[in-house]
Amino acid sequence: MRIAITGASGFVGSATAAALAHEGHEVVRLVRGRAAGPGAASWDPATGAIDAAALGPIDAAVHLAGENVAAGGWSARRRAAIHESRGPATARLCASLAGLPHRPRVLVSASATGIYGDRGDELLDERSAPGRGFLAEVARAWEQGTEPAAAAGVRVVNLRIGMVLDPSGGALARLLLPFRLGLGGRLGRGRQWLGWIARQDLVAVIRTALADERLRGPVLAVAPEPVTNREFTQALARALRRPAWLPVPAFALRLLFGRMADELLLASQRAVPARLLETGFCFAAPALGEFFAPLWRAPGRDR
Ligand SMILES: NC(=O)c1ccc[n+]([C@@H]2O[C@H](COP(=O)([O-])OP(=O)(O)OC[C@H]3O[C@@H](n4cnc5c(N)ncnc54)[C@H](OP(=O)(O)O)[C@@H]3O)[C@@H](O)[C@H]2O)c1
Repeated sequence: MRIAITGASGFVGSATAAALAHEGHEVVRLVRGRAAGPGAASWDPATGAIDAAALGPIDAAVHLAGENVAAGGWSARRRAAIHESRGPATARLCASLAGLPHRPRVLVSASATGIYGDRGDELLDERSAPGRGFLAEVARAWEQGTEPAAAAGVRVVNLRIGMVLDPSGGALARLLLPFRLGLGGRLGRGRQWLGWIARQDLVAVIRTALADERLRGPVLAVAPEPVTNREFTQALARALRRPAWLPVPAFALRLLFGRMADELLLASQRAVPARLLETGFCFAAPALGEFFAPLWRAPGRDR
């Protein structure tokens, strides 16, 4: 297939582009600003305009672009950028994709488990209603933004992605230093559930979503075994052979991160990947132990 990818320079996008190219697909990176060289075409999130000539005919698109949610505090300006780069930018991109002379057959578009808001111990799957809060609103608009593509007959898969784990980046890379220094600890009371997925599994989910005609609409991209923040903290500390006895109280998180603390660090989402399991998807790391074990056993990997 010839596959266009937005956000191809990112933590998930770079691994996805590499895996698809390795599989023999032709990957076209949709880049913001001027596209340099073959294998890239430009798009403008502010207008949705795509350089259709450089893009050429595509069979599929993967949309991963968006302002990083966890990279800094949530000032009003950053919240506006996070919102604008999700719902509105996705709607403009999808209108452009729908208007292409050779539109893709399938679009796999990122969304997030944040769509459920803060739900305590409730078991969540694709049939669960969205929740409340800034991230939930952003994710709803993000999924709704893909409607112009669906209306044009494109099969759209909205991947509700949990915390993506790989030591090379994302949340895990940020946690490694404090945990290695023995300064790790649960956040708040540590009872909040978090959906997580190994990056290599997420890449496999994206490849499956591109190929499997049964998948359409919201699909949870999380491992089958969600963990509480306390369990995650203990598993990471054990894997690094470090103590983790320094809990960070909720009020301190709120002082440090403001509103982001409640929605990103303390919110509870106990989500399970019902659709993927129904279709027989096989996770390489269904449980956290399976994710950490090979990682720290790898030769040359320092502890
Ligand atoms: N990583 C996670 O744990 C996680 C969890 C849930 C959901 N997700 C979602 O999955 C997608 C990929 O995640 P990721 O971790 O790979 O994110 P990332 O590393 O932050 O990469 C996102 C990419 O989006 C583009 N981008 C950055 N700012 C933008 C803006 N203001 N407007 C439009 N595009 C912008 C950039 O690519 P270019 O410079 O190439 O355009 C960037 O490399 C994101 O939408 C993210 O919200 C990720």
